Amino acid sequence: MKLIREIEELKKTTDTLIMAHTYQPPEIIELADVVGDSFALAKKAPYAAQKNILMCGVRFMAESVKILSPEKTVLLPAPEATCPMAEQIDPLRVRAYKKANPDAAVVAYINTTAALKAECDVCVTSSSALTIVGKLDAPEILFIPDKNLGGFVKAKFPDKNIVLWDGYCPIHNALTEEEVLAAKKAHPDALLAMHPECPADCVRHADLVGSTAEIIRFAKESEKPVIIGTERGVADTLIPACPDRTFYYLAKEKLICPDMKKITPELVRDTLLGKAGEALTLPEDLRLRAKKSIDAMLRLGE
Ligand code: 13P
Ligand code: SF4
Repeated sequence: MKLIREIEELKKTTDTLIMAHTYQPPEIIELADVVGDSFALAKKAPYAAQKNILMCGVRFMAESVKILSPEKTVLLPAPEATCPMAEQIDPLRVRAYKKANPDAAVVAYINTTAALKAECDVCVTSSSALTIVGKLDAPEILFIPDKNLGGFVKAKFPDKNIVLWDGYCPIHNALTEEEVLAAKKAHPDALLAMHPECPADCVRHADLVGSTAEIIRFAKESEKPVIIGTERGVADTLIPACPDRTFYYLAKEKLICPDMKKITPELVRDTLLGKAGEALTLPEDLRLRAKKSIDAMLRLGE
């Protein structure tokens, strides 16, 4: 309690807003001012009254905030917390691909580094990918880095020439069809909501495939119990928040993103005190090139 009070006080004295992704541990969700999916947080940041944003999430999420809010100081409490999928591709390989395929459109999932976004034509989120790819009429579309989200999109557009990269989220991709079927068998009355980063043989059993925000909305609105098929942070937050509802974990001990769990309340306090963390910087030309793909996403995602 003393620590929470200290953080509350420091937020005011340092003029800082705390943002947290839904995969953060419950004790971080508790002290955050704003909680959401990665893109929702980045979109809200420019409207924050505070000068500083302390981002509880992985590095690409803090980069997205900085790309859209260059005038803010963006603090990462755990600079080593990264998304392995966001870093799976060397941006120079994408540049070489574009040179060899000048008519192709390169689509980047928002889970990519700023350096990768800078090489792409348009970003997508797990909720906007279908709308945006549906609007592209390039003869070839390269989708990076997630083969599962990319494969999900490709299956919906058999007439489009969509090329996939062999990237994946090591957490969601490790889920097996057997685990999905076992959860459905254990809870036959429940619906299943899944993140599209899971393999195709898993998501084909889902009643909803969507981003973390869409999963939360679906679960809250569903009249039936729901099995939460994404990183366990979502169920960790939903279960105590809706005591009159029934939600089940899917592979509770397996769907854990270790990078998302690196931030602790102590680290948040020390970052506010200037004793830990990193103030993120992005070269301005890189930020502007990365912003172009995000702007294209906002335009096409409507
Ligand atoms: P969302 O954009 O759906 O929040 O997902 C982020 C993420 O890291 C999924 O694994
Ligand atoms: Fe990256 Fe997967 Fe962790 Fe999401 S859950 S941050 S995609 S490693």
